[in-house]
Amino acid sequence: MRVAIIGAGVIGLSTAQSIYQHYHAVVHPLNIDVYADRFTPLTTSDGAAGFWQPYLYDDGKVEETKWNKETFDYLLSFIKSPDCVKMGIFLQSGYNVCLQQAPAVSSCYGFRELSKREMQMFPGYKYTWMVNTALMVEGKTYLPWLMDWLEQRGVKFIREKLSHFKKYLAETGADIIVNCTGVRSGELQPDPELKPGRGQIIKVDAPWLKHWILTHDFKGGVYNSPYIIPGVVLLNVSNRNWNEANSSIDHKNIWEAACQLEPSLRHAKIVEDWSGLRPYRSKVRLERESLPRGASKVEVIHNYGHGGFGLTIHRGCAEEAARLFGQIVEEKGKGLKSQVQGSMDRIL
Ligand SMILES: Cc1cc2nc3c(=O)[nH]c(=O)nc-3n(C[C@H](O)[C@H](O)[C@H](O)COP(=O)(O)OP(=O)(O)OC[C@H]3O[C@@H](n4cnc5c(N)ncnc54)[C@H](O)[C@@H]3O)c2cc1C
Ligand SMILES: *[C@@H]1O[C@H](CO)[C@@H](O)[C@H](O)[C@H]1NC(C)=O
Ligand SMILES: *[C@@H]1O[C@H](CO)[C@@H](O)[C@H](O)[C@H]1NC(C)=O
Ligand SMILES: *[C@@H]1O[C@H](CO)[C@@H](O)[C@H](O)[C@H]1NC(C)=O
Repeated sequence: MRVAIIGAGVIGLSTAQSIYQHYHAVVHPLNIDVYADRFTPLTTSDGAAGFWQPYLYDDGKVEETKWNKETFDYLLSFIKSPDCVKMGIFLQSGYNVCLQQAPAVSSCYGFRELSKREMQMFPGYKYTWMVNTALMVEGKTYLPWLMDWLEQRGVKFIREKLSHFKKYLAETGADIIVNCTGVRSGELQPDPELKPGRGQIIKVDAPWLKHWILTHDFKGGVYNSPYIIPGVVLLNVSNRNWNEANSSIDHKNIWEAACQLEPSLRHAKIVEDWSGLRPYRSKVRLERESLPRGASKVEVIHNYGHGGFGLTIHRGCAEEAARLFGQIVEEKGKGLKSQVQGSMDRIL
């Protein structure tokens, strides 16, 4: 069985990992190849803050809520392991401050409302205040860890830009293709539902900052409110254009908003700017599709559209993609039915 995973961001790599974990002992041989034109540290996933936090409103998307929770439990299970440092997983506390009333995030750690006195630190933010201990999984550390993990198990990485979906269906020659391409303008037969959620951040050297501050303005749009995360200090967020280049106008707006939120930033050294496109979609696309390849067919599993919460949801989605993989294997009936079923039961 040959599997081609297209995409080496957090979604592609974690999907490769889940497929390996559940099927390497059942499917012989199982060759997994990861195709991508950008690998760590150049993917969107590398630039993400790695903050585990779903959008405060999930709009009734129960599956996504479940995948988020599964990812939280999975990541938390490493927190007492020495490897958490190599994986970029740690806990960090901070403030979620909102302009409008917001629901409490009951699934996170150490949630509490701010006292009146603490609220004075955030002039202008009047409504709901909360503080919690967040789980962090830093893309720039987690991705190299995932690559190593996969490489040690024989997964191959192929650096290639696939310009037409049809071409890659043919070229990879794989039995199953997993589409984990995130977002890129006009490429790979674009899904009209997929839109760029551009974000620009400014990295600064400010080691005195120990807490994150996330502001929320539900009326102004989910990506339009400044935030600050220590380590790298990150700020803003922005609009729906495809421009991956840093914008000096955004830089100025972001910097002003951030310094208003945290005046000590005026003494911080600016290290660099970074811009990325969140793969924004009304909901994650995680499903199977059979596509024609010559006279035969090839099975595709789509796993993309994780917006501003790709790290928050990745493991739950990877496990679901592995379950779909198991279905296909079973249908292809390679005399593995009962064993695969057993493996699927374990995933479920
Ligand atoms: C500023 C910013 C901050 C963020 N902060 C957070 C956060 O704190 N927490 C969180 O959970 N999420 C955050 N996100 C969102 C997160 O970064 C994304 O949801 C996540 O990175 C999506 O992962 P992905 O693997 O789908 O895409 P990517 O990381 O973009 O990977 C896509 C892969 O597909 C490959 N690819 C695409 N097209 C082709 C092609 N034609 N040929 C070959 N290869 C191709 C690319 O080379 C790449 O390897 C943030 C995003 C931004 C922009
Ligand atoms: C593969 O994923 C991309 C999103 O990155 C999407 O635009 C494209 O339509 C998908 N390919 C197919 C054949 O559906
Ligand atoms: C973020 O960027 C958008 C678009 O450039 C801008 O409208 C918004 O004001 C910015 N927010 C901050 C806090 O800079
Ligand atoms: C944004 O600026 C940084 C340096 O501050 C640079 O490393 C990066 O390549 C720039 N991004 C783009 C797309 O120009």
